[in-house]
Amino acid sequence: QAIHLSDYLPPAYRVRHTELTFDLDPAATRVKARLHLERHPEREAGAALELDGEQLTLESVAIDGQSLGADEYQLTEQGLRIEGVPSHFQLDTEVTIAPEANTALEGLYQSGGMFCTQCEAEGFRRITFYPDRPDVMATFSTTVIGQAEREPVLLSNGNPVERGELPNGRHFVTWEDPHPKPCYLFALVAGDLKKVEDRFTTMSGRDVTLQIWVEEENLGKTDHAMASLKRAMRWDEETYGREYDLDLFMIVAVNDFNMGAMENKGLNIFNSAAVLTHPDTATDAAFQRVEGIVAHEYFHNWSGNRVTCRDWFQLSLKEGFTVFRDQTFSADVNSAPVKRIQDVSFFRTAQFAEDAGPTAHPVRPDHYIEIGNFYTLTIYEKGAEIVRMLRNLVGWEAFRRGSDLYFARFDGQAVTIEDFVACMAEASGKDLNQFMLWYSQAGTPEIDAHGEYDYARAEYRLVLRQRTPATPGQADKQALHIPLRMGLVGTKSGRDLALTLDGESIGRDGVIHLREEEQEFVFTDLAEAPVPSLARGFSAPVKLNFPYSREDLAFLLANDSDGFNRWDAGQRLALLALDDLIAAHRNGVEKVMDTRVTEAFRTLLRTDTDDKAILAEMLTLPSEAYIAEQQPVVDVDAIHAARQFVKQSLAGTLRDDFLAVYQTNVDAAPYAPEPEQIAARSLKNVALSYLMSIEDETAVSLAQRQFEAEHNMTDVRHALTLLTHSSRDDLADPALKTFGQKWAHDPLVMDQWFSIQVSRPQDDALERARFLMEHEAFSLTNPNKVRALIGAFAQNRVNFHRLDGEGYKLLANAVIELNRLNPEIAARLLTPLTRWRRFDETRQDLMKAELERIQAEDLSPNVYEVIEKALA
Ligand code: ARG
Ligand code: ZN
Repeated sequence: QAIHLSDYLPPAYRVRHTELTFDLDPAATRVKARLHLERHPEREAGAALELDGEQLTLESVAIDGQSLGADEYQLTEQGLRIEGVPSHFQLDTEVTIAPEANTALEGLYQSGGMFCTQCEAEGFRRITFYPDRPDVMATFSTTVIGQAEREPVLLSNGNPVERGELPNGRHFVTWEDPHPKPCYLFALVAGDLKKVEDRFTTMSGRDVTLQIWVEEENLGKTDHAMASLKRAMRWDEETYGREYDLDLFMIVAVNDFNMGAMENKGLNIFNSAAVLTHPDTATDAAFQRVEGIVAHEYFHNWSGNRVTCRDWFQLSLKEGFTVFRDQTFSADVNSAPVKRIQDVSFFRTAQFAEDAGPTAHPVRPDHYIEIGNFYTLTIYEKGAEIVRMLRNLVGWEAFRRGSDLYFARFDGQAVTIEDFVACMAEASGKDLNQFMLWYSQAGTPEIDAHGEYDYARAEYRLVLRQRTPATPGQADKQALHIPLRMGLVGTKSGRDLALTLDGESIGRDGVIHLREEEQEFVFTDLAEAPVPSLARGFSAPVKLNFPYSREDLAFLLANDSDGFNRWDAGQRLALLALDDLIAAHRNGVEKVMDTRVTEAFRTLLRTDTDDKAILAEMLTLPSEAYIAEQQPVVDVDAIHAARQFVKQSLAGTLRDDFLAVYQTNVDAAPYAPEPEQIAARSLKNVALSYLMSIEDETAVSLAQRQFEAEHNMTDVRHALTLLTHSSRDDLADPALKTFGQKWAHDPLVMDQWFSIQVSRPQDDALERARFLMEHEAFSLTNPNKVRALIGAFAQNRVNFHRLDGEGYKLLANAVIELNRLNPEIAARLLTPLTRWRRFDETRQDLMKAELERIQAEDLSPNVYEVIEKALA
């Protein structure tokens, strides 16, 4: 049942205009659809009309006003087929659906008391019979009828054009969306919602009303999202020349939502976790996430909606580009190097793991069973890295010309990744043919580099060798075009040396192009021996190996002009030390701290920097998950012990320095999610983490005081985490109790309360997880709760990977239940088990047994596809 890219055909019939009427009812909503259809000019006459439709009860169907008898159409589980239709006609259907029974949260469903929709990728077919594919674009006119008292607010895409009262306490609103769109961008919301309103004037003078719709108790949590929206609108005008195109832009917050948010035309629907903030309930990280997601969905209005995807294989066309756009936006309005460090450290941990596992796939896959499984880090984040490389390859100005060309040429169309890259090639005059391989080859390329300085000739020879490992279905890989930004840092001067390659200057911070499997670069006229600083700013999504000595790394940490690579040198240095300690732990040898790491930390702690945010990142050790990525066989216990050892020895040796950093960064000013405040808080909290790792009395009382001060959620949550993750239940339990009681009414805060408890390293985490699954605030039908409790537990490395297999069992049981309730969430939750090949034999067997237990169930396509790949 796999679908292949190579089978693409244009639709037999197009829809010019779609008229919908919803008569809302939780158990039986009636949906009337009138489609104005015409034969596709590139398709033969006389083809049957095939409409997608799932879980619909068909009431009636008519063509050009003539109703059809049961023998005049074929109805299957997947849809409706009608033969012998004219080449231009009107189709009327009426169906009933049951939103209250929809736990998959695709199509029309209920969240709390309200109705809402999620149609991307293929949810619209659960609303009505339709050609549910992105290359069918129509204008929509939608009438929503509801109970005036229960659903005072009735929303859909575009502009409201008519409203009125109906008998029996019902009322209606009609919406018109003048921009042709695929049905995955359709949205409807109805319920007892309240709004916050603002205005924005676009660069050409259009006056736009901005609304954020929430449940009444959340009215105080919309300021930051609204401010972010206005910043994003202005930024897209200034950076890409893109302007908003309707008079109204709406955001709605819903509690039950599979993903972060959805860019429905003019009516973005958000997971409440991705839009609501308040200093008392949301952390700095949450404020920044909201800003990024609000921008992301807004940016889709052009990169996604005005120009959309021809088919779902092209998903990264809109997602990769839009993630790149939101990343640059966040970098522009916050600290750019810190944003890059955070994005890359997440990418190298999670996307590298995906690309090395059984579900690895190219940024443009060539087949799938369930498209819902392809909203992945590869499509989104690796896709964004490819767009970033493109920008660096052609330069910002050509990139912007290419982007203008793309939007002008394809406005109102559904297009492909080739179309996008062709615009970049055209605007820049560059040959991007080899570059296209990035879209079709899966797996993380590895570059083995080495270099030598020749004193006599004043030359540095750098040799790079690339290889991309085999991935499922792709045994042999070709050499990619990899642009690497780099510098040569002089060992005497500590400065970037001027780079001369083949007699030509490429500056001091230049780009070299690796195109062959192996290539040599000879830099000439170098008066001093350099240490190379390669792939600056993570200029390509690759693993770069260079045989750096620890002295080289300490040197780069102190001298590299690239903030990102300075941070990376520190990470590499820590990883080398951690490697030794992991080996020592496994061999039962006494652990000895590498003093070069301690000295590097001492220097960092004592430098007076104005960039506290970068410093906080530099003082943060690689995560257990990232360390695991570097190991041939993952030993969760050794990794945990080694990292803990480094933390404690640093804290022991540098206690006074950490304490000083903590104290200088305590701030009583009113909370603001501003870069300087955020930087100081993160530095202070990193220091507190080190201090708490040795749990001395000073640290404990600082953590307790910070918890009790209730100054803002960032500080409270961090303190609560440290108390909960300490070895002392007498610190953990009272704090958890206070917090849990105080926030029992706030679901988003309770999510944090769940996560903190189930991620504690103590060996009762599993029992706590089981116990909390019975808590009244937990619910398996709410994706946020599932992620906060079960998802977070599966990231608790030492406890999820318990040797009695109980951690795996807990996850598998949840997957089995969710397979029936919400297949998309079930398939996603399963991810950690699919990585079974990375562990020792005992754990492999235990994990595999759970995968097989799931396999024996009656599986949804989502879970089926992931299980098949995992066990292949
Ligand atoms: N297009 C949305 C976004 O990235 C995500 C939609 C995901 N839908 C899904 N069924 N997984 O902004
Ligand atoms: Zn998106």
